[in-house]
Amino acid sequence: MCGIVGYIGNKSADSVLLVGLERLEYRGYDSAGIGIIEDGEMTIRKREGKLKALNDLLREMPVSGNIGIAHTRWATHGEPTTHNAHPHTDSQKKFALVHNGIIENYAELKEELIKEGYIFQSETDTEVIVHLLSKHYKDNFEQAVIKVINLLEGSFALAIISEYHPDTLIGARRGSPLIVGKGKGENFLASDIHALVNLTKTVYYLEDNEIAVLKRERLSFFNNTGKSIKKEEKHITIEAKAIDKAGHEHFMLKEIMEQPRIISNIIEKRIRDNKIHFSHIPMGNEYLVRVGRIIIQAAGTSWHAGLVGKFMIEEFARVHTEVDISSEFRYRNPVIEGDTLMIAISQSGETADTIAGLREAKSKFIKVLGLVNNKESTIARESDAVIDILAGPEIGVASTKAYIAQIISLFLWALYIARIKWSLKKETVEQYIQELKDLPDKIEQILKQKDKIEKLAKKYAAKNNFIFLGRSYNYPTAFEGALKLKEISYIHSTAYQAGEFKHGPIALIDATVPVICIVTKGEIYPKMLSNIQEVKSRKGIIITIATEGDESIKKLSDDVIYVPQTIDILSPVVNVIPLQLLAYYIAIQRGADVDQPRNLAKSVTVE
Ligand code: M6R
Repeated sequence: MCGIVGYIGNKSADSVLLVGLERLEYRGYDSAGIGIIEDGEMTIRKREGKLKALNDLLREMPVSGNIGIAHTRWATHGEPTTHNAHPHTDSQKKFALVHNGIIENYAELKEELIKEGYIFQSETDTEVIVHLLSKHYKDNFEQAVIKVINLLEGSFALAIISEYHPDTLIGARRGSPLIVGKGKGENFLASDIHALVNLTKTVYYLEDNEIAVLKRERLSFFNNTGKSIKKEEKHITIEAKAIDKAGHEHFMLKEIMEQPRIISNIIEKRIRDNKIHFSHIPMGNEYLVRVGRIIIQAAGTSWHAGLVGKFMIEEFARVHTEVDISSEFRYRNPVIEGDTLMIAISQSGETADTIAGLREAKSKFIKVLGLVNNKESTIARESDAVIDILAGPEIGVASTKAYIAQIISLFLWALYIARIKWSLKKETVEQYIQELKDLPDKIEQILKQKDKIEKLAKKYAAKNNFIFLGRSYNYPTAFEGALKLKEISYIHSTAYQAGEFKHGPIALIDATVPVICIVTKGEIYPKMLSNIQEVKSRKGIIITIATEGDESIKKLSDDVIYVPQTIDILSPVVNVIPLQLLAYYIAIQRGADVDQPRNLAKSVTVE
């Protein structure tokens, strides 16, 4: 949430910062700004709106210098206006800083500062930090930063520069990610690894309450008592081509189209000789056999993957599994005892709610398995064991390929536990593996129908309400389809377990509402047909996701999208693909910005 970049070196800071911001714009895009020390003087440029607005401003009023900070914002405190945009400065413009996170005690701090005569320019929580720096600065930049971060409650990743020290860039973190990149005669700060691709391969991940002091030729690290600390050097493996659109109009479409390859890649990495390999997970079979309860906690699309995962774990491994929304789990004093395992699912590995849930579990001494798309993320680092979902960088704000990678990772994990516990025979697991191996081709077949789905999108794009219905393994698919549509097209859409629909929500049906029904062949097919009949008799418009060859479904449907048959338990992977495409093309029809939908950010690092 929000993107931060910092630079010190010999290059023109503005160009390095702008490239970094471009790569981080998916983190937030309400406003953007940069602060550069130019000829010893602090210069700030910031603008409301997307990065393009800042670029335009910089063309009119260029700024150059060799040290600077930059920010792309997702507003928390204060509207997305130019005066609330970062960087923020103290009244004398001696300090400038950019911030990710929320300062929870900002109101008290602000009140005190106002009493002491400090004048505030914005409505942000961030601005207190820069005035505090000005107040506590006594010739030593690092000391002032240490003093100030110890006064803050809440979360922050900060990049700070000062006119008093034009040779020093400081970063500090608590709760929000911050990475230091090491170059030759230059060093970098970034909230997200993507900003550093092509700039350096050597990085250091700051932990909570750590401070990094960056000079051109030197890096030093401290904790919040001022003690010098040694950090482990890590190497970035992401290539620049993994974070471009590869000829597609949008990241979202690229990521949808990539899905067969992602599945093949997971199969290649996790299955050898028809056996599932998670042997790198340091949990021990003895412990895994003993686990009597699993709590999955996650947010948004990752929560939907968790809902599918529950079916898989209970079916294969026969372990009682609950699925919680992270932001709820954390605050309901959950009963956690005995051999309970938590699975924390998060694409980014940085979702604040999910991190808080993980920490709650750890405070109750249960083990946590992180299922993430970023092995260096906070969730990965704080979990007892990690499964990399192997989706590759996901840039589109609407999660697509990470969702199917999460489901497939959970599928394999459930089968793996089943083998350890002997709850499934070897031959049965092999059959499931074969079904999985068939998925990439099946998904390719659906992707080939994208033009047909685009036509359908044109037909329904003007509708203002959509309902999604699914049952059993596919009620989470309905939830995910509704989320995809609402987040990128701003159409009100809602999803129900189809059997529950008649208990109230069916009152919503009239001749204007499209109802998307997931009705692929499987165990609950007849029940699903009855639920569709109920909608049909109330004149709802019915769009079905059905199994190839199911001719009779046409009688019930206004439109049908056919998908290839697979086993019930893998059907959520197949069935979500047309819903992703439909959401994408409807959003395009409505002229929405699918990669950067309003009010959203890719990674939600505040609670
Ligand atoms: O990075 P995470 O998986 O923890 O993110 C969780 C949600 O914020 C995320 O899935 C969100 O719902 C997406 N925009 C959905 O497309």
